[in-house]
Amino acid sequence: MACFSATLGVIILSGFINLTAASKDICDFYAKAGQSLTLPFFYEGLTNTHVLKWTHNNTIIFFRQQGRVSVGKTEDISATGSLLLKNLQFSSAGAYKANVLHPNGTSAKKWSAHLCMIDKVSKPQLTYVCDFKSSAVNLNCIVAKPQGLVFSWTLDEKTLTSETKQTLSVSLAQLKGQRSFTCSVANKVSQERSDAVRPTCISPSPSPPPSLCFTRKTVVAVVTGGVIVKNDHLYLLFIWKTT
Ligand SMILES: *[C@@H]1O[C@H](CO)[C@@H](O)[C@H](O)[C@H]1NC(C)=O
Ligand SMILES: *[C@@H]1O[C@H](CO)[C@@H](O)[C@H](O)[C@H]1NC(C)=O
Repeated sequence: MACFSATLGVIILSGFINLTAASKDICDFYAKAGQSLTLPFFYEGLTNTHVLKWTHNNTIIFFRQQGRVSVGKTEDISATGSLLLKNLQFSSAGAYKANVLHPNGTSAKKWSAHLCMIDKVSKPQLTYVCDFKSSAVNLNCIVAKPQGLVFSWTLDEKTLTSETKQTLSVSLAQLKGQRSFTCSVANKVSQERSDAVRPTCISPSPSPPPSLCFTRKTVVAVVTGGVIVKNDHLYLLFIWKTT
């Protein structure tokens, strides 16, 4: 029974993933606020005898019949019927449809697409933490809304092609020579890069290697013996050993 429910769980999960992937495909075009975008529509034989209609969320935004434009601007339409959208706003998102009618009123060509408006990414802040336990420096590319963003990293101005996560871990051995890091975030409409950061990791209390610990113990024994016999020669030997 336990095996059965486990298998069921996997099936439900993969179905859910497919659904999410499908909903991402809703957007045919992406834009950011303030930009312009041409919605490409190509009806090669377009003439003034045709009716050309564009809608946004089922509201007519361009209408031309017998060469007369009653909704929208003549200059926003190309020779084949493409529509230029200027100074886009978040309310510009949604469904766009183009429709050309023959002079006899039948449909000649239809086209539709979905426009998604998204925020520009903000400049990321690159921070780091020295992890002396694992001999690594952990870098973090901090940005307000990291969901769905693409991360990239550079080391000394060279892109680390296999690094695409929000965090980056580099061994302390690789840090020699003041290495400079940057991270970048990108979405469909913009990209921003952090300031360059040169991590400095100096261990506050370096733990001595085991062999040195052993030597110290030996030295203490020698010094104790040295003090008792007041042997200056042995005492000097102690200083030499500990440095
Ligand atoms: C059109 O519909 C989209 C949702 O599909 C919405 O985000 C947008 O604000 C709507 N715009 C207008 C002008 O109705
Ligand atoms: C309407 O006109 C188009 C192009 O001139 C033609 O192909 C089509 O057959 C016509 N349809 C009717 C119902 O007249």
